Amino acid sequence: MLPHFDVRPRCQISHEWGKIGLKSEPRDVSVLRTIVSPWYDTLWDGPGMSAEGGLGPNRVTAAAIQSRGTDLHSILSKTDARIEGKMTGMLQKQRRLILNQQGQDAMRRAGRVNASLMDYIRPHVKAGITTGRIDELVVQWTSDNGHTAATLGYQNFPKSCCTSLNEVICHGIPGDEELKEGDIINIDVTTIVDGWHGDQSETFLIGQVSDEKKAVTQCAFDCMHLAIEALTPGCTVSKIGETIVPEAHRRGFSVVREYVGHGLGKQFHLDPSIPHFPNRQSRIDRLFPGMCFTVEPMINAGTRYARCDKADGWTVRTKDGRPSAQFEHTVMMTEDGPEILTQCNDGPHKGHQF
Ligand code: MF3
Ligand code: CO
Ligand code: CO
Repeated sequence: MLPHFDVRPRCQISHEWGKIGLKSEPRDVSVLRTIVSPWYDTLWDGPGMSAEGGLGPNRVTAAAIQSRGTDLHSILSKTDARIEGKMTGMLQKQRRLILNQQGQDAMRRAGRVNASLMDYIRPHVKAGITTGRIDELVVQWTSDNGHTAATLGYQNFPKSCCTSLNEVICHGIPGDEELKEGDIINIDVTTIVDGWHGDQSETFLIGQVSDEKKAVTQCAFDCMHLAIEALTPGCTVSKIGETIVPEAHRRGFSVVREYVGHGLGKQFHLDPSIPHFPNRQSRIDRLFPGMCFTVEPMINAGTRYARCDKADGWTVRTKDGRPSAQFEHTVMMTEDGPEILTQCNDGPHKGHQF
């Protein structure tokens, strides 16, 4: 559902489109909404006008404005210059997310390298290996190939990958823990290749695991692929959450909200934010050809709520201690639809049954 917006900004804003870098009025009015509606947060800062559940910025209607005794035209004309400045900035920011041919090729290379690293790690993920040893393998392969691990030192993260065991949702720190029969473990690797990022993760089953662990792993895998498949050029980011939430719930599982996917490129984490549930911003943000982002649903067997370890500041666990699984791919939107940049040669492909 698109935000309720029965007053078209086009009518009120007096600039020429050229001034904000558009050749003509954008065909897709959601582009305008994207640009204008965050600004409404500051335009409508009166009581009751900015709360998410109340008359949020996207629910401003002519009636609501009139009931406050305010005339939209007069507000917009007074703030034209401020809106135009903001629009220019936001458009430029959005444009930077759309990569040119060189950027796209560089992201394809980064994705391929990162996928080769995952293929290298995979046979080692067995009972008896420690998570610290897995990290050493990541360090060694990455430096042997002349690349850099993005997580090492990222916001002071101490290791070169994340290893998230059983009830750990994400950001587990490699250490002394030994993998044993019955565990599930997510390994998340991110490589910087000539300045560009490839980011992916996979959940591994160690030997025979419980039906619950297997089902939650299958669910995370299927949800990731279903969500990627649902994307079309220019679609809203919310397509992802709209696909994942009903599927996870249908299987009796929950979707983590506190941690989300992200745009990426020369930086590890960029706009747009990619929540795996629909929210207001994801109904506005669009995935245009040339944009790169991750789809990385974290699916919990029990409650969706998470708790971050106070002692290490990183490890995120399910609040109820029940298992959690995740898969992640880096995806590029193209004119023909989504392209997975981090597809491995080995390992599970779409349709895989665990
Ligand atoms: N790789 C994770 C992601 O998918 C981020 C890990 S950040 C770290 O976004 F600092 F925890 F390593
Ligand atoms: Co990752
Ligand atoms: Co990521």
